[in-house]
Parts: sequence; structure tokens; C-alpha cells
Amino acid sequence: MRLAGLPRRALGVWPTPLQRAERLSEELGASIWIKRDDLSGLGLGGNKVRKLEYLVADALERGADVLVTGGGRQSNHAALTSLAARKAGLDAHLVFYGDDPGGPPEGNGVLNDLSDAAITYTKDDERSSVDAALEEVAARLRDEGRNPYVIPRGGATPLGCAGYVRASLELAGQLTTAELTPSLIVVATGSCGTQAGLAVGRRWLQAPYRVLGVTVSRPAAECAERIRSLGAACAELLDLAIGAVEGEVIDGYLGPGYGLESPEGRAAAELVARTEGLVLDPVFTAKAMAALLDIVRAGTGGPVVFWHCGGAPTAFVPRAGA
Ligand SMILES: Cc1ncc(COP(=O)(O)O)c(C=O)c1O
Repeated sequence: MRLAGLPRRALGVWPTPLQRAERLSEELGASIWIKRDDLSGLGLGGNKVRKLEYLVADALERGADVLVTGGGRQSNHAALTSLAARKAGLDAHLVFYGDDPGGPPEGNGVLNDLSDAAITYTKDDERSSVDAALEEVAARLRDEGRNPYVIPRGGATPLGCAGYVRASLELAGQLTTAELTPSLIVVATGSCGTQAGLAVGRRWLQAPYRVLGVTVSRPAAECAERIRSLGAACAELLDLAIGAVEGEVIDGYLGPGYGLESPEGRAAAELVARTEGLVLDPVFTAKAMAALLDIVRAGTGGPVVFWHCGGAPTAFVPRAGA
């Protein structure tokens, strides 16, 4: 199925702006542009909206009445899935690892509350405990006569990745209009679906830029492998004969761990807030920006595009947690 023929449920507002970061560029002595997927138009925005447009369309085609997904309590993906479900007239059931912390909701918990998501805790601190629990919850829902549609953590499926192939096309139009030829795109990488889609798009369009992921959770080598396999499956789904997909990922910016603020990330978020008036989240985008700053300060040719993937809700969590 070609991209144009792939069923898509409109959830966001496109294109998201591509903006030159004037004061940040001046500060760094380099040309920095920001692709504003934090303004993607559902909830408080973010990269997951692009994936969800294809996943929700698939769920509707299959007659689903409830979306089932999960991750950490502060998962941007989970909160946006619940909001997307409501916009499409569906319910959402979220599965979080660990135990219910009690107390008033924070960050994405507020959004889950507002959208009235059903929530199950795995009572196991392993993040991967969510994977089996998604199937268990889906089986329970089926027993109750519901028709659940399970979305793996992060929405990282070949179909979800198609959202970022489409985003590559969107960016290509904006680059042409701006007469801009970036050498590099920097993006935060977690479940790897965003970068896989961008990597497929880059090859398909024979774009001049490299797509560099900054891992915020898994080891870089594991991310690279996931990007290659997700990218290959996405290319096959879209009938794109593009050969091997590259997964270029760096680590070194995780700080104290997944979901926890790093000093370099905090400094990057302060710089961006103080030069551009933009909010970066402590879990993903601040860490990716810290990497971009190091790369640019070390000297790189050509303009750089920072892909802002959102994450605003966790900027308000006192100790950003997974
Ligand atoms: C704000 C933000 N940035 C980046 C990412 C990483 O995207 P992916 O999981 O597709 O690698 C996520 C994923 O949750 C996110 O919420």
C-alpha cells in the first residue's frame, strides 16, 4: 500500500512550522532550525500524533472500540493515545508498569484523568512487564464483549512509522520553500519509531541530510538495530524499494537514567527557553538538544534541524519520572 493510499484519521494540524531559531543560532554561531511537532495540534502536541493518525485509522477499520497501550506513568504516547481515542469516539485503556503511586495526578496523569482513561498497573517495576500486560488486558476486554486494538509501547510499529515518512515529505516541501539544505536532523530516540520513519523518508526522498538520533533510554546499538528492522518493515508496508535503512544513534546523553533530568539537558532547556522562548521536556527533547549543542559547538557544516517532539506535560512534573 502506497503512503497516499494508507488510511489516515486526521488528528493533528499540519504542516507543523519549520522555524529558524534566530537567537539560538546567533548564540551558537550556526544556523539552527526547529521543526515544531510540539505544535501538532492534539492535546499538548508531540510526535506521537503523527503515528496515531495511522494507528487509529487501522483501529477504526477493524471495528475496534477501545485502544489499549501503555508504558511509564508519564508516557506522552499513552496520554496522546487516550486523547486520540476520544477524538475518534473510542475508549482507551492504559497499562503502566509499577504500582499506582496514589496522590493527585501530575503531568500526563492530568491528561489521562481529563480524558477518563482506564488504567491498569502491572505491579512490576520492569518496563517490559507492560508488553504481556497489554495482551492480558486485551483478552479481558474481549471476554467483556469489547473489541480492543493493541498499540505497542511508543506506537513503534511499521504502520506508526509511516507517520514520520509522511513527515519527511512535509519537511521536504518546507525545505524547498525556505531554500534550505540542512546537513543534519537531530531527534530524540526512545522506542525508535520516529527515527525509523525519518530514516525511511530520507532514503525515499534521497534527502541530503543525516538523521541522527539521541537515545534517551536504550543502548545506541539496540536503537540502531530497531531502526533498521522497523524501517525495513515500514518500507515494505509502503511498497518502497529503498534498500537498507540506516539507524545512526548516539548515546552519552542519558544522564542519571530514563525519565530523569540530566544536568546537560537542564542547561540546554534553559538556553532554549532563554533564547527562543521554547519549552523542552526533561525526558526527551532537552537531552537531544544537549547533544545538538555539543555537535554544533564542535563545528558542523551546514544548517541543522532540531526535530522538537513535544513532551510538554513532563516539564511540570517535579522529578520527571518514567
Ligand atoms: C517528547 C518525545 N520525544 C521523543 C520521543 C521518542 O520517540 P520514539 O519513541 O518514536 O523514538 C518520545 C516518545 O515517547 C516523546 O514523547
